[in-house]
Amino acid sequence: MRTLVTGAAGFLGSHLCDRLLRDGHEVVALDNLFTGSKRNLAHLHERTDFEFIRHDIVSPIMLEVDWIFNLACPASPIHYQYNPVKTVKTSVMGTLNMLGLAKRVKARILQASTSEVYGDPHVHPQPETYWGNVNPIGPRSCYDEGKRVAETLMTDYHRQNNIDIRIIRIFNTYGPRMAIGDGRVASNFIVQALKGEKLTIYGDGTQTRCFCYVDDMVDGIVALMEYEGDGAHEPINVGHDEERSMNDLVDCLGEILGRKLQTQHLPLPENDPVRRRPDNTRARERLGWQPRVPLLEGLRRTVDYFRELV
Ligand SMILES: NC(=O)c1ccc[n+]([C@@H]2O[C@H](COP(=O)([O-])OP(=O)(O)OC[C@H]3O[C@@H](n4cnc5c(N)ncnc54)[C@H](O)[C@@H]3O)[C@@H](O)[C@H]2O)c1
Repeated sequence: MRTLVTGAAGFLGSHLCDRLLRDGHEVVALDNLFTGSKRNLAHLHERTDFEFIRHDIVSPIMLEVDWIFNLACPASPIHYQYNPVKTVKTSVMGTLNMLGLAKRVKARILQASTSEVYGDPHVHPQPETYWGNVNPIGPRSCYDEGKRVAETLMTDYHRQNNIDIRIIRIFNTYGPRMAIGDGRVASNFIVQALKGEKLTIYGDGTQTRCFCYVDDMVDGIVALMEYEGDGAHEPINVGHDEERSMNDLVDCLGEILGRKLQTQHLPLPENDPVRRRPDNTRARERLGWQPRVPLLEGLRRTVDYFRELV
């Protein structure tokens, strides 16, 4: 199998490359290095079954591959709001280009979508059948709506051209190789705690998220790509289904570091959802997937990674 991973130098992409190489794939890794780093792939460069191409998916590219994992897209608000028009282009033109490639070379293609397609949800937990509550003109829209259009494009290419698509709706994931300073809560808290700073909590800290460890997420991504049963072309949620508040997360970190952590509170950003939890029924029933790594264990591994950097 010759497999293309876009966004390969990023957090999830680099772990996915590791996994695919372990599974015996020849991997073509593509990234424009906007938020990703060559450091995340440095350990793979000597391998003959691995190739890195610096390329922006907003421009077409011709490659011979069997599978395409389209992960390229800035994923944290700080990064995707830096150049919102470019974020939309990446999700729309980038996904179109990858679909065009899939069509030409008859490759199976997986799109990394997001729980953000549900916006600030009125249904809880969110099943894939829920259409979401997304502001089309808010500060997060470039990301949320971009991903929604990417899902539309994937589905229409499937209907119109019979492209073999997979759509994964990824919920909050954390682990080693998250970028420092990208504003995501797990890495933010860990870096602040390791530096001895106060942990920044937006709002009162009672808002919840579900935190999925990266190895579990990569298992889900690969399981969906391999899945050939009923509904293979429908979106599927993958994420941890245990809700944890921000205050909870602070306590867990305090337990790992063995000290009480100080916090400071700032106002909640606009359109920040208060709760988000996947209904994982499809992932469980179709893929046999469920999260395995407990939060404390995953956080411990992530803290170990950041200790080397901070
Ligand atoms: N990590 C999460 O919790 C999470 C949640 C939901 C969805 N996702 C999705 O998973 C994918 C990977 O996210 P991540 O957390 O690894 O983020 P990341 O920022 O670490 O990785 C994204 C990668 O895409 C690259 N990239 C961005 N725009 C590009 C372009 N136009 N052309 C080529 N490369 C480009 C970046 O340089 C980076 O290496 C994204 O599509 C994201 O939307 C992630």
